[in-house]
Amino acid sequence: MPEALDAHLAAATSAETPWWRRAVFYQVYPRSFRDGNADGVGDLAGITSSLGYLEQLGIDAIWLSPIYPSPMRDFGYDVTDHCAVDPVFGGLADVDLLVDRAHASGIRVLLDWVPNHTSDLHPWFVESRRSRDARTRDWYVWRDGRDGAPPNNWRAAFGGPAWTWDEKTAQWYLHLFLPEQPDLNWDNPEVRAAMTGTLRFWLDRGIDGFRIDVVHCIGKDPLLPDQPPEFGDVDRAGVHDHPGTHELIREIRSVVDEYDDRVIVGEVNLRDTIRIAAYYGAGDELHLAFNFLSLDARWDERDWRALVRTVGEGLGDSAWPTWVLSNHDTPRHRTRYGGSERRARAAAVLLLSLRGSPFVYAGEELGMDDAAVAIADRLDPGGRDGCRAPIPWTSERPHGWPGGHWLPFPPEAGARSVEAQLAEEGSMLDLYRCILANRRGSPALRDGSLVLLDAPPGVLLFERAYEEDRRVVAVCFADEPRAVGYDGWEVDIASTPGPRRRFNGKLAPDEAVILSRPRRRRPRG
Ligand code: GLC
Repeated sequence: MPEALDAHLAAATSAETPWWRRAVFYQVYPRSFRDGNADGVGDLAGITSSLGYLEQLGIDAIWLSPIYPSPMRDFGYDVTDHCAVDPVFGGLADVDLLVDRAHASGIRVLLDWVPNHTSDLHPWFVESRRSRDARTRDWYVWRDGRDGAPPNNWRAAFGGPAWTWDEKTAQWYLHLFLPEQPDLNWDNPEVRAAMTGTLRFWLDRGIDGFRIDVVHCIGKDPLLPDQPPEFGDVDRAGVHDHPGTHELIREIRSVVDEYDDRVIVGEVNLRDTIRIAAYYGAGDELHLAFNFLSLDARWDERDWRALVRTVGEGLGDSAWPTWVLSNHDTPRHRTRYGGSERRARAAAVLLLSLRGSPFVYAGEELGMDDAAVAIADRLDPGGRDGCRAPIPWTSERPHGWPGGHWLPFPPEAGARSVEAQLAEEGSMLDLYRCILANRRGSPALRDGSLVLLDAPPGVLLFERAYEEDRRVVAVCFADEPRAVGYDGWEVDIASTPGPRRRFNGKLAPDEAVILSRPRRRRPRG
């Protein structure tokens, strides 16, 4: 039997586990999910009409990328009104209907909340740039330059300096992203009140929580010092980590805590588990924080072993991890792992059996690859179009998009469509459904401790346990078969299709299994 290497890795949770610790979250990118009014862009009606699909898939909560009114320079992450819906997605009544229907199906709904910046067309900024005495002048970050140059050396996320010169009022304004996304000044109490008011607006409507966009960026040192040379010219949003942010997050959390049972999951894009852990506070900041180191991990056992260990040690017992393989900002993991369906299937087993709350990005359950989008055809300022391709619903063209589609379809759209995979036993979609159903029935997989086990090279092996329930997960990253032991254990899940009840102790290349202890046969007679 393999040796336990990391017995300290995270105890099991208690009986009063909040829902979001057990939940599997599903990210919907509304433009690309489903088109309810045949105008070529996905919308809220499309999402509502797909709740049956999501229910049978077995996810617990959906997070919608922004649906607010927006000039769409950053496809909704440039907001002009935090308390309304862009007509391309529908209206407030469509949100209410979606939330009602989702709740009736046992699915919770999270919105994306964008507190760091607004659109430059937001009335607050339009007023702010009107004059130096404008009522909302100080709602944004305005500074004088240094001898005709910007106030500091920060770089914006999509290139260029993080400052834009405003001719009319002869000052620079800060934007960690596009010039059309000016940063709000969270030092200003009016900004805090206005923004937390937008949280209340949605919480009062029954929204179950928020994914908070680049929340680690909202606090700023008022002196705005230069980025130290050790960070090089990496863009500011990837390294910004001002201690004052924590107090702001505590204020946000206290508003959310006025309501029962809501959740905030923050995008803390720092690629450093210890620094990310700080954003959970003492249980009084984020409930959950993304850790994008999983997006950097290669399809390599050493990367994953190191990451699982780092997360176990770095977050300790109280901060609950999150796991993500794909989202709307990064090439999909199938594409990153070389396009292999076997790997994508094994990765699904891994994602959904680690200790923590997994986030599935719509389309990964279909094994979607990124669409090929020529540079000249890119619409997104960050070149992230490929991972935002529309979901193919039907096998035949136009794959459920009769009004056209705003981006090209992903490769093999017909064969990977929802329709094709619902009909095929052993499809990727079928695998996700089986893993999610199995997870739902297993306290060990949902709530249990995780212990990394010694394994042959190229194999990640760990045990999840909760009281009597014990599961062993083995993932083979090697390109040759590997013997891992556990002969005769029950195969609850195998990433490769086909019937297999008892484990023979061997994993094929790029294969993953979830095993449980063989049940004792009753003696006959
Ligand atoms: C986050 C979003 C990304 C957006 C950026 C600016 O990183 O995920 O899509 O471009 O913030 O809001």
